[in-house]
Amino acid sequence: MSEQQFSGISRRELLKTSGRVAAAGALLGMAVPKVHAAEDNTIRLVLIGCGGRGTGAAANALSAQNGPTKLVAMADVFPGRLAKAYQSLGSQFEKQMDVPEDRKFIGFDAYQKAMDCLRPGDVAIMTTPPAFRWVHFGYAIEKGLNVFMEKPTTVDGPTTRKMLELAERSAAKNLKVGVGLMCRHCTARQELHDRINSGEMGDIILMRAYRIAGPTGHASPEPRPDKMSELLWQIQEFHAFLWASGGAFSDFLIHNIDECCWMKDAWPVSAKGFGGRHYRDNVDQNFDTYTTEYTFADGSKLMLEGRTMPGCFDEFASYAHGSKGSAVISTSGHTPAKCRIYKGQKMDSKELSWRFPPPEPNPYQLEWDHLLAAIRSDKPYNEAKRGAEASLVTSMGRLACHTGQLVTYEQMLNHDHEFAPDVDKLSLDGPAPLQKGSDGKYPVPQPGINKTREY
Ligand SMILES: NC(=O)c1ccc[n+]([C@@H]2O[C@H](COP(=O)([O-])OP(=O)(O)OC[C@H]3O[C@@H](n4cnc5c(N)ncnc54)[C@H](O)[C@@H]3O)[C@@H](O)[C@H]2O)c1
Repeated sequence: MSEQQFSGISRRELLKTSGRVAAAGALLGMAVPKVHAAEDNTIRLVLIGCGGRGTGAAANALSAQNGPTKLVAMADVFPGRLAKAYQSLGSQFEKQMDVPEDRKFIGFDAYQKAMDCLRPGDVAIMTTPPAFRWVHFGYAIEKGLNVFMEKPTTVDGPTTRKMLELAERSAAKNLKVGVGLMCRHCTARQELHDRINSGEMGDIILMRAYRIAGPTGHASPEPRPDKMSELLWQIQEFHAFLWASGGAFSDFLIHNIDECCWMKDAWPVSAKGFGGRHYRDNVDQNFDTYTTEYTFADGSKLMLEGRTMPGCFDEFASYAHGSKGSAVISTSGHTPAKCRIYKGQKMDSKELSWRFPPPEPNPYQLEWDHLLAAIRSDKPYNEAKRGAEASLVTSMGRLACHTGQLVTYEQMLNHDHEFAPDVDKLSLDGPAPLQKGSDGKYPVPQPGINKTREY
């Protein structure tokens, strides 16, 4: 059964299937599927990190058509963010909101309190900045919870190793884990991937990916207001700080990197690259331009460009060039992808050989439909390993640009610089993982000078 057919299954059929699988499991003495009894088949959700994407992910989860869902608790470090998300979700999904005041949690332990409101088999939504992912995921595994977590899932070598280990533990417990690399769930890209696999474009020799735009997210914030603590400010402006997000490179470029590696069905073995800080006053740790050359084991390349600078040419797209033609992997942003294949390399409309027919279903909704369908039918479903690998490959490119060195996959995986080793011990009135230097500035990468560490 294809994923699409699978997600189209009716609730009644799912319940019938769930009941049959549960009975068969009991008969064979196997672990029963993580679904609830027919009289209460509602999958309960908690939202950890109630910002923009958290509100969007919860809305997708509450919109799923393949069985009832409800939100039972929320967690954040800022009461105002939680209140805004609660109001927004409440106005759209009033009947599915069951979050009384005593299930709204604030602080660095809020994630635990929220997850304590769930039963095994329910879903924890993790949409904080990535720094906290391994901490929250570890607790979810202990509690036997299914998980949806946003990308990137790691920011450096040590946290990737932790996440890969947690991925194994979650799979051993048969937990279902979705990672917010939603382009993998895009129907148009899936058909393009099938066509590439069937040899329609020959061998992929080169891919190109661009996310070159003006100022994006919190990559270059205004200076910290006096009334705000350094720690909370760094968390709020997480794109500015490598410990919190992996910086602009990791947060913004991972989707293009991941969709290209998927088309190639491989992770690159090394990366080299460069970039610079042109118009910045050292409030953040990012470069405002990046260019990276990834190399795959067969020698083929992925060329990647990232920029967050106003007044320049913009493009947000990925392309593949094969020995028998070329393809558009994504056209402008994440969706619609408008995937197409051309006979030659010019991508000239006269040489168009295939295009995905519009409209394209929304991949942010599809990723939830697929996760929830897998939970209800106890189908193996775990994207944690792949999410950690995509995050690692992204960090490999960033380390290459920030140090000015050629970096291999193994070097990145075994790298010893953990940006925030005590991220599981932060307290609201405690210090931030990153401190300014004696010059009053945050440390920034210095390629060719700092050759092994990013700062
Ligand atoms: N898949 C996508 O297309 C996509 C799009 C946007 C964001 N994202 C990802 O989603 C994540 C969040 O991004 P966002 O844009 O929603 O940011 P955001 O700042 O709007 O939301 C993050 C929220 O997490 C809260 N938070 C921070 N640390 C916390 C902690 N320790 N415990 C509880 N709450 C905490 C913040 O206060 C904030 O409300 C990032 O990893 C980002 O890369 C993915």
